[in-house]
Amino acid sequence: MAEIDPDRPHPARIYDYLLGGACNFAPDRAFAEQFLRVMPGAADAARLNRAFLRRAVRFGVDAGVTQFLDLGSGIPTVGNVHETAPGARVLHVDNDPIAIAHSEIELADAPNATAVLGDLRDTDAVLAAAAEVLDLTRPVGLLMLAVLHFVDEPHEPLRRYTDAIAPGSYLAITHGTADGAPDKREDVLRLYASSGSPATPRDRAQVADLVDGLVVEPPGVVWTPLWRPDEPAAGNPAQSLTYAVVARKV
Ligand SMILES: C[S@@+](CC[C@H](N)C(=O)[O-])C[C@H]1O[C@@H](n2cnc3c(N)ncnc32)[C@H](O)[C@@H]1O
Repeated sequence: MAEIDPDRPHPARIYDYLLGGACNFAPDRAFAEQFLRVMPGAADAARLNRAFLRRAVRFGVDAGVTQFLDLGSGIPTVGNVHETAPGARVLHVDNDPIAIAHSEIELADAPNATAVLGDLRDTDAVLAAAAEVLDLTRPVGLLMLAVLHFVDEPHEPLRRYTDAIAPGSYLAITHGTADGAPDKREDVLRLYASSGSPATPRDRAQVADLVDGLVVEPPGVVWTPLWRPDEPAAGNPAQSLTYAVVARKV
């Protein structure tokens, strides 16, 4: 299982720093600052991603979903799943022990939400943990936000999860892409590779392919701020650096 290595930057804590959080170490902050030099909009992109999380959870609540499996959940700070869906059962899974330790603190007052350490590629273990707290015979909101670009071969895990969830469940994804800044692609790849967490940005068609076999909800695969925004999206949506999609299992 993953070990705590505060000397190496980690995606959970880099993202926390970009969100303005305090659960990060010097190497995470140094990496984030380097990333911001390549991609000055990265902090806005992190906030836009978290805002999508709330819209995606609300989408599920409106559809009657009362349980959520959040894979690659990071540190569930303000406005996270259990706050958007009070009373829902939530399992957070992340492969960073520090993110999980902080999750346990954040979730101390949320009796229906728990967090476990796990790698989403280890589908048997994750599904076993999920079956302990969720009823997988009933619809689940499966959240995989800003995580699949850290997974080299996501199709097989995705197949396992979508096979395991009941009809009426839905999958929400945000995914890093270089479509909006192709000239920065190599710099970003090099930077992440140097951190020990290589990233695989995918284009729009590749993101659409991740939900193949499910029914894609309108408006389809779009820049994250354009997925059913609460208010008209400001600025250039490509600066979100991610695509969003929600798809339903029928
Ligand atoms: C950019 S953060 C996104 C956090 C959260 N999903 C959100 O959108 O606010 C990516 C998270 O994915 C986690 N992660 C990366 N690879 C993972 C894997 N193979 N299994 C589980 N978690 C993973 C990282 O530790 C990190 O917390």
